[in-house]
Amino acid sequence: MNPFPFRDGHLYAEDVRLAEIAEKFGTPCYVYSRASLEGTVAQFRHALAGRDTLLCYAVKANSNLAILNLFARLGIGFDIVSGGELARVVAAGGDSSKIVFSGVGKSEAEMRQALDAGIFCFNVESESELRRLNRVAGELGVSAPVALRVNPDVDPRTHPYISTGLRSNKFGVAFDAALELYRRASAVPHLRLRGIACHIGSQLLDPAPIVEAAEKILTLVDALRRDGITLNHIDLGGGLGIRYQDENPPTARDYLAPLVSLLGGRPETLVFEPGRALVGYAGLLLARVEYLKHGAEKHFAVVDAAMNDLMRPALYDAWHDIVPVALRDSEPRTYEVVGPVCESSDFLGHSRPLAIAEGDLVAVMSAGAYGMAMSSNYNSRPRAAEVMVDGDATFLIRRRERVEELFALETVLA
Ligand code: LLP
Repeated sequence: MNPFPFRDGHLYAEDVRLAEIAEKFGTPCYVYSRASLEGTVAQFRHALAGRDTLLCYAVKANSNLAILNLFARLGIGFDIVSGGELARVVAAGGDSSKIVFSGVGKSEAEMRQALDAGIFCFNVESESELRRLNRVAGELGVSAPVALRVNPDVDPRTHPYISTGLRSNKFGVAFDAALELYRRASAVPHLRLRGIACHIGSQLLDPAPIVEAAEKILTLVDALRRDGITLNHIDLGGGLGIRYQDENPPTARDYLAPLVSLLGGRPETLVFEPGRALVGYAGLLLARVEYLKHGAEKHFAVVDAAMNDLMRPALYDAWHDIVPVALRDSEPRTYEVVGPVCESSDFLGHSRPLAIAEGDLVAVMSAGAYGMAMSSNYNSRPRAAEVMVDGDATFLIRRRERVEELFALETVLA
């Protein structure tokens, strides 16, 4: 389903005109579609129907409480990477027993918090982390559920900043060291070996690398079983990509099908940690054109959203479609779409043909994942508002920050 259709030349979010949302809540503003969020979860579920699986939404992609709460109500689990994300999931009504905790730098306090909450599993990324987790669990008198995150050394063929499963990346335990580490961990008193995990990267456009990773992971699972170490789940991480420009990502079903056929007959529970694929299409960033500026070489459309609101273009040179919210008859002009931040990398799109005038609204598409979640207050810009649309109803799910809030934690010298 298309959550953001054009009707009679006007862009809508479900059944609400975006112009109306801008009027009511101001710009810049993230707008999400409830139907789209629920629809993508349904697609994953459908693709995994009949299998013993746990779907854990990667909270880092978008951690707004309203979104987490929708997912919690659908009964899915969560992949977290910090105590902050754990607190959000709990506040949103998520089920702690369906949480996996990833990340290379878990602190003692975060371990304690997660053990208290009773999470499903720690995805442990190093031997030192195993030791620390054993000590913290011992102090609490519990045993910690553990999977080793193994780095399968597979090239996910994506942007280098979001590749994680190569030997040269900081993530996971080296494939060749994993067996030995499992053996050692099995003798540690306060750890309960439960599973194995990997995550090779993000924005994958082809299932082949994850299938290759899964095959490698299976050789480990089977070798461990021969050693008397039986694992209950296999976590293949997240990574399924979406279309930003002209990519052709597989559907959830096509991405999962080869994995399900490889692993379907096995006794282990299958865990997946999708982030982008669940929320990416469901959100857009609504902005207003402040100025049209005609430079010596280029035309600039200066909008009121910037790299602090949506960092992906500046950081990864990422493409997001930019569309006018109301269509005009005039000839399009080619614009650099830029924000007010004082950096040359503050752009949302290069060379975009747009028929727009000052005061018009534009929508930056497919911004539901890693948009608001990566926003900042750079240039003392308050973070944007976030609005959820459900049919013809709108809900403010995060109000716009106020400038005073940006320095409320600061103190001047006496
Ligand atoms: N699991 C783990 C352990 C991860 O590190 C990630 C993402 C995911 C799951 C979810 O991956 P997804 O399904 O969303 O691809 N900021 C970047 C993406 C960074 C992804 C980091 N890890 C971007 O805007 O493209």
